[in-house]
Parts: sequence; C-alpha cells; structure tokens
Amino acid sequence: MVAEPDRSAEGGWAAEGGRAAGGGRAAGGDCSNVARQRAHMPEGTSAILDTRSLETGNRRLAALLHPGLSVLDVGCGTGAITRGIAEAVGHQGRVVGVDVNASMIEKARAAHGSVPGLSFEVADVHTLPSGGAFDIVAAARVLQWLADPAAALRAMTAVAKPRGRVVVLDYNHEKAAWTPEPPVSMRRFYAAFLQWRAAAGMDNAIADHLRDLFAGVGLGDIVVSDQHEVSQRADPDFEMRAGIWAAVAATRGHQMVADGAIRERERDAAEADYRAWLRDSAESHVQYLLAVEGVRT
Ligand SMILES: C[S@@+](CC[C@H](N)C(=O)[O-])C[C@H]1O[C@@H](n2cnc3c(N)ncnc32)[C@H](O)[C@@H]1O
Repeated sequence: MVAEPDRSAEGGWAAEGGRAAGGGRAAGGDCSNVARQRAHMPEGTSAILDTRSLETGNRRLAALLHPGLSVLDVGCGTGAITRGIAEAVGHQGRVVGVDVNASMIEKARAAHGSVPGLSFEVADVHTLPSGGAFDIVAAARVLQWLADPAAALRAMTAVAKPRGRVVVLDYNHEKAAWTPEPPVSMRRFYAAFLQWRAAAGMDNAIADHLRDLFAGVGLGDIVVSDQHEVSQRADPDFEMRAGIWAAVAATRGHQMVADGAIRERERDAAEADYRAWLRDSAESHVQYLLAVEGVRT
C-alpha cells in the first residue's frame, strides 16, 4: 500500500525558528556547547559528503523506501543522500532535508533543490519544528557528533507518525581497521581525534549503543543491521574512500590544532604520511557502521 504523504507540515518546515518538538529543549550543559562547536563542518568537508549516495552511503534506509513515503533526513549535509531518498519515494512522496549548518543547506539547495518533492531547511535536531508527521525520520552519521544523542532521538521520534519509523546510521570509531597498520603519525592523530571528540561528550562507539538508546526513548520493533564500509585496494574509489583520514587531518585537523588537541606539525605529518601510505602500501580499510531502526509506538 502506498502511504499518503502528510502535507500538514507544509509551512511549518519553511518557517524560520519553528516551534520545537519533543519539548523543544536544546541539550544543555558545557559538553553540548563544545560538541556543537566541534560538530561544525569546516570548509572542505562538504566534498566528502558529495561523494556519497543513498545506495552506497545508506543501504538499509534505501531498502526501506518505496514510492509515496514522507521522509525527514536530519543532518542532511549537502543533500547527496537526500536526493536519492527523494528519487526513491518519487513524485507522490515528500522529503525534507534539515541541517543545523546553513552553508550545507545552501549547497544542498543549489545542487538538488529542483528535485520534485524535495526541500531543504536549516534546523537543529534538538528543536525540530513540530507538526511534520513523517513515515520515516532518518539521521546518518549525525548522532556521533552530539553530546546528548538521546535528546536528539526523542526529538526525531516526536516528528515521526504513529507507527512511523526512526532510522539511524552511525559509526563505532573504536572498531575502524586498517591493513596494514597506518603510519604511527596517523595512529597518533586518530587517537587524538577520538580523545578530542570524547572530551566534548561525543560517543565514539555510538553505533553499538544505539539499540539501548532506541529502547530508552520508547521505540519498538528495533532492528540492527551491519552496514560496515569495506574498502579494498582493487576498488576504483579506494583512494577516495580510504583517504578519508587524510581529508579529516586536512580539515578537522585544523580545528583540533586550534583546540590544543594536537600540534600543527603532528597534524601535517599525519596527513602527509597517510597519503604516502595510501599510495604505496594500503590494502584495505573498514569503517564499522550499524543501521538501527525502531517504530514509534
Ligand atoms: C558527517 S555529516 C553527515 C551528512 C549526511 N547525513 C551523510 O551521511 O553524508 C553530519 C551532518 O550533521 C549535521 N549536524 C550536526 N549537528 C547537528 C544538529 N544538532 N542538528 C542538525 N544537524 C546537525 C552537520 O552539520 C553535518 O552536515
């Protein structure tokens, strides 16, 4: 059966500073403020998001979609995956991509704003405008950047229809693997990256904690799917995919230097050594991701 898209939210999603769902509370406390600053996507990171697609970057969500669904994509970035969602739900469906970063939304609108049924709005996951009941509320690689992911999950659940689905895709950064081991400078950079995130209250292992988070906010029928991203040297896009850590060093690395998490010469060495490792010796890289879905009861 094709679900009728709910049009009742129209207007509410376009309005700046819309009313808050889930009590409208932004997560409070020092960690949340630090996390907000650290989650800000620095210049250069949007190119990484543009390399993703629904099929390669959110396989479980792709399998759940069919024409006519209404979908909210929270933390949509530059909208590359959101576009795929809109194409999958077709003309009868409705897709809204939201992101807290206005420059991401500008890029998303410029690249994908003409796709029928697709719109983009600036919004924080903690203060999603109310009134938009969606069949699916999704967030990919977003909760990992939050100090209070349970609050975000509650807000996402509040904008799902009764029996609607919440679908979260995220990492356990502690289970990433490289073959052979990357250079020591990159291992130090990666350890500093995880420490920099943890100091802001972010959960580096959030993928493995999502099931409990879902149960804690009252979502039912929870399903967990492995979505690990395995990149092998023979893959045509290996350098781009496994090269993400050189890109992270080149972009977020500067935030880490500014925050005193690492020295510039260490950041610089990690980036250069990793690029050389990628070119000369890298065989594979695995990023550990789980997709977790639950139904609003
Ligand atoms: C790693 S990107 C993921 C983008 C896209 N979902 C993907 O999988 O490629 C994380 C996105 O979450 C957004 N974000 C971070 N905190 C947010 C918040 N509190 N509310 C909404 N979006 C947020 C960031 O601006 C960024 O665009």
